Amino acid sequence: MSQSNREQWTSRFGFIMAAAGSAVGLGAIWKFPYVAGTSGGGAFFLLFIIFTLLIGLPLLLCEFVIGRSTGKEAVSAYKELAPKTKWHWVGIMGVVTCFLLFSFYSVVGGWILIYFGKALTGALSNPAISYEGLFAETISDPFIALGAQLLFIVITILVVSRGVQNGIEKANKYMFPALFILFLVIMVRSLTLPGAWEGIVFFLKPDISRIDSSTILAAMGQSFFALSLGASAMATYTSYLDKNVSLTRSAVSVVSLNLMISLLAGLAIFPAVFALGFSPAQGPGLLFQVLPAVFSQIPLGGFFLICFLALFFFATITSAFSLLEITVASLTQKKPEKRRKASWYAGLGVFLLGIPSCLSYGVWSDVLIFDKSFFDAADYLVSNLLLPVGALFISLFVSFKMKRELLQSEFVRGSKIASRFFGIWYAVVRYVLPLLIVLVFLNVIGIVRFTQ
Ligand code: TRP
Repeated sequence: MSQSNREQWTSRFGFIMAAAGSAVGLGAIWKFPYVAGTSGGGAFFLLFIIFTLLIGLPLLLCEFVIGRSTGKEAVSAYKELAPKTKWHWVGIMGVVTCFLLFSFYSVVGGWILIYFGKALTGALSNPAISYEGLFAETISDPFIALGAQLLFIVITILVVSRGVQNGIEKANKYMFPALFILFLVIMVRSLTLPGAWEGIVFFLKPDISRIDSSTILAAMGQSFFALSLGASAMATYTSYLDKNVSLTRSAVSVVSLNLMISLLAGLAIFPAVFALGFSPAQGPGLLFQVLPAVFSQIPLGGFFLICFLALFFFATITSAFSLLEITVASLTQKKPEKRRKASWYAGLGVFLLGIPSCLSYGVWSDVLIFDKSFFDAADYLVSNLLLPVGALFISLFVSFKMKRELLQSEFVRGSKIASRFFGIWYAVVRYVLPLLIVLVFLNVIGIVRFTQ
């Protein structure tokens, strides 16, 4: 198929907003604060920055070169680069991973919508309410939770079905900057609360004694989940990028935005949590239980809670676009005119697959697979198995299967200084990444345990 039939991002800015929109999501806003809260605050943040630069950035560039050098979605990209081999299975695995990831991601997306609805009607600003009880009640009601999950998926379908330029790029161009501004507003409010200082210290002061092997590995896993790596989703997004845009500059922009948002998330959340005497080690309920409680106690809290839920929604839905897009792109590679149909089928398929994950917080809470609820089992399969294995294969593919000259030309195009870094990047991708990823992987599945 000729290149000209395919849509492209209209500008470098559009691409960066879409890629950063995919990256910044539940990982940065929901998972990051509670993992940092339970794994040593500042020490975790420091490690997260180091791994984002050491693993995330090089791996992001791997996906970028795969996507842009072929201009094709994940599965066909591997087929073109390594014809008559089995490497396209890496692309297929990526599509399956995104599909499965979206099935439980949308459960949390639904919760955000429910909370948003409740915040708009003022139901969350009653100081007498039990926020723990409310959270448990919200997520366990099968009709409300499933209905909200379906609504979240339908919004994603409506955007993705409109295409790369008119759907995904347009939505991201507004939503990502809006998310950024809303975050600044919340951060200023949070930092000006009396007692905020303790939260800032907790988040920014690395207490080296709290670094242990599990913190290191959690930070490493988080660094590539938060950049949407390991499932060829970023490769698919980059396949819509103009040939003349610099990949290295774009990757640096996406990584910087991602780190900046993580910093904002920490500075918005921890000072508020500490100022009002909550524990930062609250776990996954942190954002749904602690934050509404915090906001109900401060002046203009109702307004700030609505801002917070809006930004949480934007962050999550812009990641969901990328999760659906990779499937739709691979279904429509040969027939772009089928995009609408493919988006609806894929989205509704995701919903069906996601039903058990949603119900696992309520009526099916005692159905366990491998001792885990459906939601946790799907999360474990994606985050601890499929993504690290995908990331490993991607780094091996780039360094051992792709031609060095092709990599070099993609790496340096459009940038005057990138050529200086090509050699380092190549060595890191070839030797450092596979080793580090294997180490994380063996640790998460329990084959290797480090003791101090
Ligand atoms: N990066 C997103 C987050 O942090 C999640 C995500 C979206 C993702 N697309 C992905 C993760 C593809 C891995 C692969 O919430």
